[in-house]
Amino acid sequence: MLKPIQIKENLYYVGVNDRSKELFENLWPLPKGVSYNSYLIVDEKTALFDTVDICYSDRFFQKLETALDGRQLDYVVINHMEPDHSGSLGLLKAKYPNVQVVGNKRTADMIQGFHGITDNVMLVSDGDQLPLGKHNLVFYLTPMVHWPETMMTYETTDKIIFSGDAFGTFGTLDGGITDAQLHPERYYDEMIRYYSNIVGKFGSPVQKALEKLNNLDINYICSTHGPVWTLPQQIEKVVNIYDKLSRYEGNEGVVIAYGTMYGNTEQMAETIAHELAVQGIKEVIVHNVSKRSDSYILRDIFKYRGLIVGSPTYNNKLYPNIEYLLSKIESREMKNRYFGYFGSFTWAGAAVKRLAQFAEDTKFEVVGTPVEMKQSMQLDNYTACVELGKAMAARLILDRKQ
Ligand code: FEO
Repeated sequence: MLKPIQIKENLYYVGVNDRSKELFENLWPLPKGVSYNSYLIVDEKTALFDTVDICYSDRFFQKLETALDGRQLDYVVINHMEPDHSGSLGLLKAKYPNVQVVGNKRTADMIQGFHGITDNVMLVSDGDQLPLGKHNLVFYLTPMVHWPETMMTYETTDKIIFSGDAFGTFGTLDGGITDAQLHPERYYDEMIRYYSNIVGKFGSPVQKALEKLNNLDINYICSTHGPVWTLPQQIEKVVNIYDKLSRYEGNEGVVIAYGTMYGNTEQMAETIAHELAVQGIKEVIVHNVSKRSDSYILRDIFKYRGLIVGSPTYNNKLYPNIEYLLSKIESREMKNRYFGYFGSFTWAGAAVKRLAQFAEDTKFEVVGTPVEMKQSMQLDNYTACVELGKAMAARLILDRKQ
């Protein structure tokens, strides 16, 4: 028998940790696992907020049953339909046939499509309210944070926002559930990685959602992944992280992402990186794209304003892993980056041309002169790489004065 965890009077955590899955969405590495958070309010009426991945439904139902303590489940609020949260909805409905499934018009279409549920569905619109007794729910539609049906639910008495994926992080909840019970620092990088990998394309919808939350007094952020945020300074911190990321604002620093087959292009990356440091740029992150998953490279590209990409020519195109990375950057509609690029070839150059096209498509501010190297590093290429590093450093340093 598993017990729920009480967050505060009448509010229970009935979520689970997943330490087994290798790749979230079968794409993004989970070295620290992930949690699927679900919450229950027990009042005159009982309301559950989202469910969990179906692989963990057994543990989830044990916790839920114990938390209900013989009561019936009146409502399940579906803030988000991605199956890491709605996966157990069909089983929940079979177990609690009278439960009212609360969602918006877009949710209704998905619960029918995924689970065949059409009865006892309560449709809500932006600003609608649902009293539970002492607690009162208000629904805020926040489409595309991260799917079109996404909404957030605000509880007005205890000032709790059930925020769906927003403010979520990768990483399991190891012991502590709330920020007060753990060292929150260990989640910040995983929050940025989660945002950049999963929500990164939707900067403008996230900004609209933040505007809606702006006037709310918030004591608890109950996201669907990662810690429950309860400490005022932590709530401010995670809202600021989301605000900054969704504005595509980066810190001073440079990500150098390069592909290399035999180390020649890598030497260009090393030269540029060192010159950045010589010029006083302390945050220089160098990623070999064959070694490092795009998941982490994207995280760092969201963190820092400077981006330098290098690629050998491969089959008259870019090095494949660089092409994949560029397509992920483009699909996130990344903005506000200073961009430098370099490449190499043995008999016919194509990489630098494609990188120039990428710069044009993304409208990044191109910094310095692109470097194209034939075969191996000679003094002229070396000097050109140093100049590229200098130019990027100068551009970043210029921002310090503004
Ligand atoms: Fe955690 Fe978009 O699902």
